Amino acid sequence: MATVRDVRTKAGEEAITMLTAYDAPTAGIVDDAGVDIILVGDSVGNVVLGHETTVPVSVDGMAHHVGAVARATEEALVVADMPFLSFGVDEAQSLENAGRMLKEEGAQAVKLESGPHTVSLTEKMVQLGIPVMAHLGLTPQHVNQYGGYPRQGTDQEAAERMLELALEHEEAGAFSLVLEHVPANLAAEITDALDIPTIGIGAGPDCDGQVLVFDDAVGISEWTPSFSEQFGNVRAEMESAVDDYVSAVESGSFPAEEHSHEESDLEELY
Ligand code: KIV
Ligand code: NA
Repeated sequence: MATVRDVRTKAGEEAITMLTAYDAPTAGIVDDAGVDIILVGDSVGNVVLGHETTVPVSVDGMAHHVGAVARATEEALVVADMPFLSFGVDEAQSLENAGRMLKEEGAQAVKLESGPHTVSLTEKMVQLGIPVMAHLGLTPQHVNQYGGYPRQGTDQEAAERMLELALEHEEAGAFSLVLEHVPANLAAEITDALDIPTIGIGAGPDCDGQVLVFDDAVGISEWTPSFSEQFGNVRAEMESAVDDYVSAVESGSFPAEEHSHEESDLEELY
């Protein structure tokens, strides 16, 4: 089982790989491929549960998915994303929610969409033994404030504020930092300034690692952001399998002899 220390060690040597997963079979595939970190992202809300955004995702809902992923993962580090308002409102409640992901669901760390309100909370979690992955740049739980998903850190003041927050979260004990949808040169500067590894999404090539949403990376999603890449066409493969199933049942070619159990020697009932 990988640990947060393994992640920090690898960062100096090779790029860190991270993908999301939301269920056991997917986690098994990602884990077998040797991906370093599996993030059970709150992107489960829009990617899997049919919501428009991540805002409606609940702690119970996350726990359900985190458990499934953790049970199927042998090697990768499993990180549970903490959903909107499950942290940062009340400290005791935040610690209980995050602790549950480790204690009951088998995650080894949590991720918090970070800001000024998560510095002391990160420190407290780390003190208690809950490793924290920080997340700056575009934080999708703020969609109602942004009015969309705009790139972040594009002016000098915002860039300086982001660097400052990154350093504060490192100081608070975060073991890594996700940088989402920020200019590549800003991500490079933050990566240089920090000792902990940065993991980028839409943040250029100079982070210590990269993360994508699984469904985007393998080509299940109907729409993917411009900074993503489809490394496969799994949706087309699924569509073709479902089409073939429908045709086979409708034409009577499925089930065939080989799919049928032997008939029992019942008397005719009717
Ligand atoms: O929820 C998620 O999938 C994420 C990653 C894109 C970083 O937060
Ligand atoms: Na997320």
